[in-house]
Amino acid sequence: MSCTCLMVLQLIGLGQDVDYKKHIAPILSSKCNSCHTAKKKESDKKPKAGLALDTPTGIRSGGVLDPGDASSSELYIRVSLPKNADDLMPPSDDGGPLSTKEVALIKKWIDDGAKFSSGSGEALGKIPADLDARKVKSMPAREPNADAIAHLEGLGATINPVSVTLPEYLSVEWISTYYKITDKEIEQILHIAANVVEADLSRTKITNEGLKHVGKLGRLTHLNLNRTAIGDKGIEALADLQSLEWLNLYGTKITDASMPIIAKYRDLKAVYLWNTAVTSNGVSTLRKALPEAKIVRDTDDRAGRFDNLDDPGKFDF
Ligand code: HEC
Repeated sequence: MSCTCLMVLQLIGLGQDVDYKKHIAPILSSKCNSCHTAKKKESDKKPKAGLALDTPTGIRSGGVLDPGDASSSELYIRVSLPKNADDLMPPSDDGGPLSTKEVALIKKWIDDGAKFSSGSGEALGKIPADLDARKVKSMPAREPNADAIAHLEGLGATINPVSVTLPEYLSVEWISTYYKITDKEIEQILHIAANVVEADLSRTKITNEGLKHVGKLGRLTHLNLNRTAIGDKGIEALADLQSLEWLNLYGTKITDASMPIIAKYRDLKAVYLWNTAVTSNGVSTLRKALPEAKIVRDTDDRAGRFDNLDDPGKFDF
C-alpha cells in the first residue's frame, strides 16, 4: 500500500467508499468547473477540451475515465502530474495543483470503479403508472437522475449524452448484453424518460408488451428495434412518439397494418423495413404520406447501407 493510499484511507475512514457526491463532485466543482462546465453562460462558450466535469454524464462522456484503473484515466493523470508540468490540471497558474488529499480521493474513487451512485435502484421509487408520451415531453429535461443511470448501467445498458453541450439528452443501448434484455429491463428506462432521445433495443427480447414502455418515451427521435420479435400490435403502442425521425424495424414481424401509424410521424427522415412482411403497396402508401422520408425495404436499397449484416449501421441516415 502506498503512502498516499494509506493517508486517504485514514482521512475518510478505513474501508469506507469514496462517494461521488460527497467527495468528488465538490472537488470538481470548486477546482475544475470554472473551465469545464456544460452550463454555458455566454452562448458561444464551450467547456475546455470539450470536457464538462460538472455532471456525471459529462464526465462519463468525456473519455477521461477508465473505471477501476486510475493510472490510465486522464482525469487522474492530469491532476497527479508534477507541479511544473504543462499538462497539469488545474493549470498551475489557475489554482493547480490539487492537494494530496484531493488527488488521493480521485485516485481511490476511480480505482474503486468510478461509481456515481450505489446503483442498486432501491432509491428510485416507482415508475408512475400514468406516465405517457405527452407527459414525458412536457417534463423539463433536467440533469438525469444519477441513481437511475447507475441502475440501468448495472443492467448492462450503455448510456451517453447525445452531445457534450446537451448532457441532459441521452442515448440508451445494450451493446453486448442485448440477448439477455427483456421487457423488464427496458421498463427501467422510464426512470429517465424525460432524458432519453435515442434508444437502441435491437436484438433484445422486447415484445409487443414491452413496446408499451417505449411508447411513453415522448422525446424519442431515434428508435432501433431491428431483429426483435415485435409486430403490428407493438407499433400501435408507439402512436404517440411524434418526434421520431429515425426508425429501424428491419427483421421484425410488422406488416402493412403498421403503415398508418408510421405515416403519422411527420418528422420521420428514415425508416428501415427490410426483411419484414411489408409489401410494396405498404411502402407506396407510406411514400405518399411521407414523400421526404427515406424508406428502405428492398435488398437493393439495403446494399451499400448495411455492409456488415451483423451490425446494420446504427443511427446512420
Ligand atoms: C483555468 C481553466 C482550467 C481549469 C481550472 C481546469 N482545466 Fe482542465 N483543461 C483546460 C484546458 C484549456 C484544457 C485543454 C488543453 C489541455 O489539454 O491541456 C484542459 C484539458 C483537460 C483534460 C484533458 C481532456 C482531454 O480530453 O484530453 C482533463 C482530463 C482535464 N482538463 C481535467 C481537469 C480537472 C480534473 C480539473 C480540476 C481538478 C481541471 N481540468 C481544471 C482548462 C482548465
